[in-house]
Amino acid sequence: MDLSTDYMGLKLKHPIIASSSPLSETLEGIKLLEDSGASAIVMFSLFEEQIRRENEAFDFFLESGTENFAESINYFPHIDTAHKGPEDYLNLIRKAVAATDIPIIGSLNGITNEGWIDYAKQIQEAGASAIELNIYFIPTDIDMLASAVEQRYFEILKAVKDAVSLPVAIKLSPFFSATGNMAKRLDEAGADALVLFNRFYQPDIDLDNLKIDPRTDLSTSAEIRLPLLWIAVLYGRIKASLAASRGIHSSTEIIKYLLAGADVVMVASALMKNGPQYLSVLIDETDNWLTARDYHSLVEVRGAMSRQNVKDPGAFERINYIKVLESFENPFTSGIAK
Ligand SMILES: Cc1cc2nc3c(=O)[nH]c(=O)nc-3n(C[C@H](O)[C@H](O)[C@H](O)COP(=O)(O)O)c2cc1C
Repeated sequence: MDLSTDYMGLKLKHPIIASSSPLSETLEGIKLLEDSGASAIVMFSLFEEQIRRENEAFDFFLESGTENFAESINYFPHIDTAHKGPEDYLNLIRKAVAATDIPIIGSLNGITNEGWIDYAKQIQEAGASAIELNIYFIPTDIDMLASAVEQRYFEILKAVKDAVSLPVAIKLSPFFSATGNMAKRLDEAGADALVLFNRFYQPDIDLDNLKIDPRTDLSTSAEIRLPLLWIAVLYGRIKASLAASRGIHSSTEIIKYLLAGADVVMVASALMKNGPQYLSVLIDETDNWLTARDYHSLVEVRGAMSRQNVKDPGAFERINYIKVLESFENPFTSGIAK
């Protein structure tokens, strides 16, 4: 079985990529991901806030002398100290590129198009093979129009595309009024790949202490449905590569994503839970499943169950929702109306 695939011009030996996560925060972790079989690695994100914080601190330091340095650092909200600063990040990319034989994809996480885009260029200079942009914007301003939210994506994409010659992927939010049209316009604006979908931070409430609980949990396999739907809808209709991110915990989810039309799949939670070595299990299981069904290459698999290739494209649409609801019976009544 030939599992090789093309992801925005990167030739990969198979479609299973290590998604952005703390597993890539050290060189040792990166090597372990490669040794476990990852066909490429998306680095953990460098955040716009980290870059700005460092730049602001540096400017302030130059202007005001060392005694105010601590104060200037506090200007930007404190973020996870486990995350490295921009220089450490670039150094780690340099080392990772030198120490591995697979593509290393830098990840930038930001919401404006100013003050930090230069780091995209530096990630390129550090030797990364591509850049993934995670535009993680939560529009809590209820006066902000959808068009203004969308505009940010285009502005950031343009600024980064102007700065680098590397392929650029956008990790998308599922929360658009017209997800398909947004994908189409990002494709037209030059996105080389779309990663579907970002998993958003959704805080909980701690009932014991009546506090907002800023937690994020690992995913479950039930989460594949939303990306699966949109990958199946977009397959064959845009030029950009499609990466499936979310809910992969076994080869079952991987095969479904490939059948829907994904060029690659990205795994984070399952590796956080079972260790990077779990990649080899995922690769072997995927290979075995496809080989047992006489597939010879991914070309035969990809998109076979996409919206454009299934007999009944309506299966992806509203009419099926009505049918599904009708199929449910109330388990607490004996069907008197029948
Ligand atoms: C602990 C943890 C840290 C993550 N950090 C990042 C990050 O820095 N940047 C990013 O784009 N995605 C990050 N993600 C999101 C993952 O890359 C992935 O898109 C998401 O978890 C869905 O995939 P999964 O179901 O395999 O976990 C993180 C996920 C987890 C669980």
